[in-house]
Amino acid sequence: MKMLHLSVILLTLSGVLAHSDWGVNYPNNPICAVRGFSVSIPCSYYYPTSKPNIQVTQKLWCSMNSNTDKCQNPPYVYNSASITTSDFEYAGDDKSDCTLLIHNVQFSYSGEYRFRFITDVSGGMWTGEPGATLQVADLKVSLIRLSGIGTLKQGDSLNLTCDVNCTQSSSQFVWSKNNERLNTSGPVLHFPAVTVRDSGSYTCTWKTNRASGSKAISLLVEGGWGVNYTTPICAVRGFSVSIPCSYSYPQHNYQVTQKLWCSMNSNTDKCQNPPYVYNSASITTSDFEYAGDDKSNCTLLIHNVQFSYSGTYRFRFITNVSGGMWTGEPGQILQVSDLKVSLIRLSGNGTLKQGDSLNLTCDVNCTQSSSQFVWSKNNERLNTSGPVLHFPAVTVRDSGNYTCTWKTNRASGSKMISLLVEGDNPENPDHWSVWMIVVVTGGLIIIILAIAAVIYHRRFLCERRSVHIEQQKEDDSDIYANAQQKEDDSDIYANAQQKEDDSDIYANV
Ligand SMILES: *[C@@H]1O[C@H](CO)[C@@H](O)[C@H](O)[C@H]1NC(C)=O
Ligand SMILES: *[C@@H]1O[C@H](CO)[C@@H](O)[C@H](O)[C@H]1NC(C)=O
Ligand SMILES: *[C@@H]1O[C@H](CO)[C@@H](O)[C@H](O)[C@H]1NC(C)=O
Ligand SMILES: *[C@@H]1O[C@H](CO)[C@@H](O)[C@H](O)[C@H]1NC(C)=O
Ligand SMILES: *[C@@H]1O[C@H](CO)[C@@H](O)[C@H](O)[C@H]1NC(C)=O
Ligand SMILES: *[C@@H]1O[C@H](CO)[C@@H](O)[C@H](O)[C@H]1NC(C)=O
Ligand SMILES: *[C@@H]1O[C@H](CO)[C@@H](O)[C@H](O)[C@H]1NC(C)=O
Ligand SMILES: *[C@@H]1O[C@H](CO)[C@@H](O)[C@H](O)[C@H]1NC(C)=O
Ligand SMILES: *[C@@H]1O[C@H](CO)[C@@H](O)[C@H](O)[C@H]1NC(C)=O
Ligand SMILES: *[C@@H]1O[C@H](CO)[C@@H](O)[C@H](O)[C@H]1NC(C)=O
Ligand SMILES: *[C@@H]1O[C@H](CO)[C@@H](O)[C@H](O)[C@H]1NC(C)=O
Repeated sequence: MKMLHLSVILLTLSGVLAHSDWGVNYPNNPICAVRGFSVSIPCSYYYPTSKPNIQVTQKLWCSMNSNTDKCQNPPYVYNSASITTSDFEYAGDDKSDCTLLIHNVQFSYSGEYRFRFITDVSGGMWTGEPGATLQVADLKVSLIRLSGIGTLKQGDSLNLTCDVNCTQSSSQFVWSKNNERLNTSGPVLHFPAVTVRDSGSYTCTWKTNRASGSKAISLLVEGGWGVNYTTPICAVRGFSVSIPCSYSYPQHNYQVTQKLWCSMNSNTDKCQNPPYVYNSASITTSDFEYAGDDKSNCTLLIHNVQFSYSGTYRFRFITNVSGGMWTGEPGQILQVSDLKVSLIRLSGNGTLKQGDSLNLTCDVNCTQSSSQFVWSKNNERLNTSGPVLHFPAVTVRDSGNYTCTWKTNRASGSKMISLLVEGDNPENPDHWSVWMIVVVTGGLIIIILAIAAVIYHRRFLCERRSVHIEQQKEDDSDIYANAQQKEDDSDIYANAQQKEDDSDIYANV
C-alpha cells in the first residue's frame, strides 16, 4: 500500500499521469436525436500540456450497448486506426476536439458513448467516464379532428400536432406548407375552419442545436361544388385582361373532363349549349385563352378587348361522373373602357409657346378602386403619379411623347400624346443655326469695317501725296482686289445660308 502510494506520488511528480491533467468533457445532459436524422455529440479532451511533444496516436469511440470494458477493447463504433464507412463519423481532431457525428440515427443507437484516446507516452491513454448519453426519439405529426368526420370538408376544425418523445430544453418547432415557411411556431397548427386553400403538404421540423428532424403530413380539404368570381373588372379596349376564377368539387371522386366559358351576351342557357367563348374540347385560337387548370383555377385571359366584350361571363365544368357538372352563377362582370389622354390648355392659344400653362390628363371611364396611373416621357418613366401631369409653364425641353399607363392587378392599357412646344424664334428653333446667324452677321460686319478702313486709309494717302495717274491706277486695282475679297466673303456667306437652309430641312424632318 505504501509502495503504491509512493509510486503514484513519483509518477505525479514526473508529470505524466496526474489525474487532473487528463480528461474528456461531454455534455451534462442526455442528447436527443430524431430517428432517421443526424446528431452531433460535442466532446473535448485534454492531456498534460507540460510535455508539449505529446502526440495523440489513436482515437476511439465506443457504444456501451456493445462494449463492456471501458472502450479498452473492441467493438468500437469509431477507430482512427481502422476507418470504415458507417453511421459514425469523427468530426474532431487529434488535439482537443472529439466531436462525434451520427447519421441516420436508429432507436438501437440510444445509450452511452465513451471516447478513448491513446498517446505516444507510455501509459498515456484515457477513457472519459461516464460517457455521453444519446436518446433517440420519434417525430410524429398527427391530424386531430376537432369537428366533422369522414373526408375533410370546408369549415371543419382541426389541429396538426408535432410530437417528439424526448425532452430537450432548447428545442424549436418550425412549420412549413408546400416548402414555404409558416409564421407559426410551437408544436400545434390550429385550423378553426379549413378551406380548400388549406390543402397541401405540411412539414414540421424539430430543431435543437445538436440535432434536427422533420416529418410531413398532407391535408386534403374537399370543396363542395362551386365557382367563385370577383367584383366587376375593368379592362381597356385594345389591351388584355385577366379574369380570376376559382372552382371546387369533391376531388376524391370526380375528375374534370371539360371546361367551358360563355359570354352571356351570346349564350342564353346557363352555358349548357354553344356558343362558348372557350371550350376545352375544341380549342380554337381566339381572344379568349384559358389560363386555369383541372383542379381549382379557372382563370380566363382575354386579349385585345373590344367594347362588345363588356358583359357577364360564366364558367362551366363537367366531370367524369354522369350528372357531375356545374355552372357558376351569376358570373363575372367585365366592363370595357376607353383610355383617353387629353391636353388641356390653361393659358394661351394657337401653337404651344414657352411659358404656356397646360395639363395632360389621363382618363378611364370605369371606376376600379385599386388602379394606378404611370406617366412616361419618351419611354422614360416620370416620377409623378396620378391622372394629371401639370405644367405651370412649358419650355422647349418639355416637348416629347408622353404616355399614360393605367394599371390594375388584372388589366392595363396605355396611350400616348405628343407635346410640341415652340421656341422664341419659330423659324429657327435650332440653337446652333441661331448661332450661325450671329457668327455670319458678326463676320460680315468685321469685313465691312475692314474694307471701310482700307478705303479710308487709301484716301488719306492720296490726299497726302501729289496726284499721279499711275498711282491712281494702282489704287483702283487695289479696290478691285478688295471687291474680289468681298465676293469671296459673300461666297462664304452663301455657304452659311445654305447650311442654315439645311438645318431648316432637318428641323422640319
Ligand atoms: C420514443 O418512442 C419510440 C417508440 O415509438 C421508442 O422506441 C423510443 O425509445 C422513444 N424515445 C424516447 C426518448 O423515449
Ligand atoms: C409573421 O409574423 C410577424 C410578427 O410576428 C408579422 O409581422 C407578419 O405580418 C406575419 N406574417 C404573416 C404572413 O402572417
Ligand atoms: C388544438 O389547438 C389549440 C390551439 O393550439 C389548442 O388550444 C387545443 O387544445 C388543441 N386541441 C387538441 C385536441 O389538441
Ligand atoms: C369562394 O369564396 C368564399 C369566400 O372567400 C370561400 O369561402 C369559398 O370557399 C370560395 N369557394 C370556392 C369554390 O373557391
Ligand atoms: C372519376 O375519376 C375519379 C378520380 O380519378 C375516380 O376515382 C372515379 O372512379 C372516376 N369515376 C368514374 C365514374 O369514372
Ligand atoms: C390561377 O392561374 C393564373 C394564371 O395561370 C395565376 O396567375 C393565378 O395566380 C392562379 N390562381 C391561384 C389561386 O393559384
Ligand atoms: C366608356 O366609353 C365608351 C365610349 O367612349 C363606351 O363604349 C364604354 O361602354 C364606356 N365604358 C364604361 C365602362 O362606361
Ligand atoms: C387667341 O388669342 C388672340 C390674341 O391673344 C385672341 O384675340 C383670341 O380671342 C384668342 N382665341 C381664343 C380662342 O382664345
Ligand atoms: C423622384 O422622387 C424621389 C422621391 O420621391 C426623389 O428623391 C427624386 O429626386 C425624384 N426624381 C426625379 C427625377 O424627379
Ligand atoms: C390642372 O392640374 C392641376 C394640378 O393637378 C389641377 O389643380 C387643376 O385643377 C387642373 N386643371 C384642369 C383644368 O384640369
Ligand atoms: C414621338 O412619336 C412619333 C410618332 O409615334 C415618332 O415619330 C417620334 O419619333 C417620337 N418622338 C420621340 C422623341 O420619341
